[in-house]
Amino acid sequence: MPNVKLHVNGKVIEQVVKDNANLVVLAGIKQLPELKYGCGMGRCTKCACKIINGSEDLGEANWKEKKMLGEKVEEGFRLACQMTITNDIEISQEETVAIKKRKEQQVK
Ligand code: FES
Repeated sequence: MPNVKLHVNGKVIEQVVKDNANLVVLAGIKQLPELKYGCGMGRCTKCACKIINGSEDLGEANWKEKKMLGEKVEEGFRLACQMTITNDIEISQEETVAIKKRKEQQVK
């Protein structure tokens, strides 16, 4: 079963998850409560995370991720709600606020 290492709020949380797990679903049922998320549907970017290790097993970003994250996808960011976890992965949500602020600036 995959091991998830999450960097968030200055902490590192490790959690073993089932194959093909969705991290936002796990957060919703309190199995990964530290994960930041919102809509669960690829619309809000609150679940955005930078992939530190394990990106090769995620497959390509889907259209929602590309639409919402733009060039951040090329920098290694993904939407946790759109990912299926099949192997060990290390992700960070330390930069999520920066993405959100940038998006707000684009709207103005
Ligand atoms: S939870 Fe809203 S985009 Fe992932």
